[in-house]
Amino acid sequence: MRLVFTRDLIPGMLTGGEVTDVAGAVKLLKQGICLTQSQITKLQNWGVPFLYLDDGTDYDRIKFSGVDMIKINFAKVYQEIMHDVGHMFRYIKKFREVPVMQMKALADHKISLLVETIGALDYLLEMRCHSEHTFQHSLNVAVIAGVLGKWCGYQGEKLKNLVLAGLLHDIGKVVIPLSILDKPGYLSSAEFAIIKQHTAEGYQLVKTSQQISQDVKLSILQHHERMDGSGYPAGLAGDEINDGAKVIAIADIYEAMTSDRVYRSKMTPFEALNIIADQMFVGLKPEICLTFFDNMRNYLTGSSVALSNGLEAKVIAFDAKEKHVTRPILYVQNGTCIDLQKEALRIVGVYG
Ligand SMILES: [Fe+2]
Repeated sequence: MRLVFTRDLIPGMLTGGEVTDVAGAVKLLKQGICLTQSQITKLQNWGVPFLYLDDGTDYDRIKFSGVDMIKINFAKVYQEIMHDVGHMFRYIKKFREVPVMQMKALADHKISLLVETIGALDYLLEMRCHSEHTFQHSLNVAVIAGVLGKWCGYQGEKLKNLVLAGLLHDIGKVVIPLSILDKPGYLSSAEFAIIKQHTAEGYQLVKTSQQISQDVKLSILQHHERMDGSGYPAGLAGDEINDGAKVIAIADIYEAMTSDRVYRSKMTPFEALNIIADQMFVGLKPEICLTFFDNMRNYLTGSSVALSNGLEAKVIAFDAKEKHVTRPILYVQNGTCIDLQKEALRIVGVYG
């Protein structure tokens, strides 16, 4: 058996086990099914990130490289957590009650494993072809917030709380009608007003819990507040906003931009960072943004990318003087170097 990303499937491959949707709630395919193109397309539309194939090979006997093993373990843990989070979000939707201890245990033990994995954000990009589901978006935000929090110096209980806040930040969406939440295209002002209620609704769900810290509660309530006072629900500004909420805000934007949505395809990390750079001196805390850029530029250096002119290239450096610039210098297949700050070309794909 081997683990294969859904985007790499080709017709004729055999499923090595039962395939379910990302939440583990719906059985999609049995073991031993010979995949057709139509089934592969459906799996991609369901947002199944990967599955096990039976290719007759005893993979236990094969030596994987260290990087392969880290990636495989990350994918396994991610899938386990996804099932758990899916169950928990359905429980919250049904009973309007948060299973606090289970969610804390998940954040403290399992999600922390993903946060501590070197290369977590690279692997995460591969896991989430689609994150239409609130619970999958929430898990991804928990991991991104944890990684960004570590880069900002969070540790111990403070870091665990930040990961939990990422996991819980959108729980208020369980009370928003799916017809509005999943609506493709633009929302009317009345519909947007209903969406905005998810922050206060989420806070209501946890506000009396003794096991959840005030930082986590405020992160849920304030993750759409903005430094210039333009956010919601209260229009708070600057220091009035909880520090964790400011980290979650950036992780939330980055996750949303780098995931496929009904109304648009996912952006590359470069495009997502550009959007964050545009908001850095307006709504987002500049210090956190700059820490994110610094570390992401290290992350992205060495990546293979596709350019808008059809050429492939490798990221070799970023302009060290301009910390918020996300247009790197590239080494192109044909042996030339391109400084994207001086060219109109765009990066349209990243291959790790
Ligand atoms: Fe939100």
